[in-house]
Amino acid sequence: MSEGHSAATYLGLAAGTAAAFVFVLFVRRRWFSSISDIPGPFLGSFSVLWQIIHAFKGHTEEATIAEHKKHGDFVRIGYNEVSIGHPDAITEVLKSQMNKGDWYRIFSLPDSRYVNQMSEVDAKRHIAKTKNIASGYAFSNVIKAEPYIDGALQLLEKRLDSLSEAHLPVHFDEWFNFLGFDIVGEVTFSKQFGFLDQGRDIGNAIANTRALGIYVAVMGHFWWAHDYLLANPLIGYLNLQPTMHIFDTCLAAVDARSKNDKVRKDMIEQWIDMRKKHPDRMDEKEILAAAVANIGAGADTVSATLQALFYNLLRNEETLRKLREEIDGANLAEVPTHEETQKLPFLQACIKEALRFHTPVAFGLPRVAPPGGVTVLGRHFEEGVILSVNPWVIHRRREIFGEDADLFNPDRWMTDSGRNRERYLIAFGVGYGQCPGRHLAQLELSKTTAMLIRDYDIKQVEEGKSWRFETHFTAVPYGWPCYVTRRRRSSEGSNRK
Ligand code: HEM
Repeated sequence: MSEGHSAATYLGLAAGTAAAFVFVLFVRRRWFSSISDIPGPFLGSFSVLWQIIHAFKGHTEEATIAEHKKHGDFVRIGYNEVSIGHPDAITEVLKSQMNKGDWYRIFSLPDSRYVNQMSEVDAKRHIAKTKNIASGYAFSNVIKAEPYIDGALQLLEKRLDSLSEAHLPVHFDEWFNFLGFDIVGEVTFSKQFGFLDQGRDIGNAIANTRALGIYVAVMGHFWWAHDYLLANPLIGYLNLQPTMHIFDTCLAAVDARSKNDKVRKDMIEQWIDMRKKHPDRMDEKEILAAAVANIGAGADTVSATLQALFYNLLRNEETLRKLREEIDGANLAEVPTHEETQKLPFLQACIKEALRFHTPVAFGLPRVAPPGGVTVLGRHFEEGVILSVNPWVIHRRREIFGEDADLFNPDRWMTDSGRNRERYLIAFGVGYGQCPGRHLAQLELSKTTAMLIRDYDIKQVEEGKSWRFETHFTAVPYGWPCYVTRRRRSSEGSNRK
């Protein structure tokens, strides 16, 4: 046999073996898996392609809702993953102590040495980590940062005034992100990122978080490759991280802390104290890891909720009128205090409705069936099967939220039955993986909304034009610039300081 001939033979043999392997894998996954009887999209029956395609298309939430409408409470969305759409899954899956899916490992940033609360998939270790850092997130700690949050809000108004005077549009997708990042920096390590101050997306860091969103949604399925890609220390060394300004600021703030002991009792300080008391329980890296997790999780979620609220208020005149009447009648402080805003029931109803209607985390939250398997909604799942619950699917269930579940209607929260539904509002997750930043988020949402609705008239540049939004892990809206006009000058109409 000639050399060329034998190379072609080997190549053909290799291709044949690969094709046979793929075929056997396809048959095994499609027809001989323990979840083969569960209906769902064809691609999901043997691969993770359905999830990847929808992550790229940017509307996993819509696609998952549609599949549940078609197939019922169980949908096989991946060869080893079942999405559960029934509200009992809140208790049976999310509130259980099943490990989190490996998909979460992708959140280890800057690299896999930095396992944070989000990327720790082992339930026991996760709970231990959460306990170590809980004091930083406690409401009693977060509220101490209120004066600094007020400073960020005043800076935001100053910037909005400048844009208004120059008759320039306000891109709320940017400005609410600037606010979200600067506040989370302030509360975590007493330092803003400077987005509000400079009024721009420094180093395109925020714009790049969109690309990061797609990366996370897709590469979570291939988390083992993460260390060779974005989490490769070389990428950091060469300054190639797409969100470098955010990481740099975070790293510098944590580093500066070790050289300065005259500091506020911010989150990092609480964690450093905890480590001093229990050095055996907490590794030094956990502090930086937790700070990075905050930055990753605590800005675009708040921005998405604020955008959803303002965007929908512009489309519901009567709701906006009612909210403004409540806020105007309350004689709030110059920067409304958190305490004041908790006494405004319609404001709180509007925030809940924004969290329900445009839930910022729009991805199935995956948990893994434990050794011996688990029974959910009367069905047994073998060890290792991934069970996920997508908050959007629960939040659009008509038997819970009513026939108008697909509409924005804050009034649904104002009745007794509305208040009973609160246990189905899972925008912050539930169980051991629940969002630790929820107190801070509630505070930001309440104060910002009360202040801006009181102080500005807002109008879309192209009235009625739909925004665009994409969902990867978070639902990120953009493209709805607005003009803002002052309704009320500082200290006008308020005898409060
Ligand atoms: C409206 C705003 C927010 C929403 C809707 C939200 C929602 C969520 C959800 C759904 C999870 C995941 C639950 C799971 O995996 O089961 C989560 C986790 C997390 N959030 Fe938030 N979040 C918000 C704001 C914040 C803020 C302001 C911070 C930081 C101060 C923050 C920090 C975190 C962290 C560190 C995790 C990981 C927790 C864990 O896995 O134990 N979030 N959030």
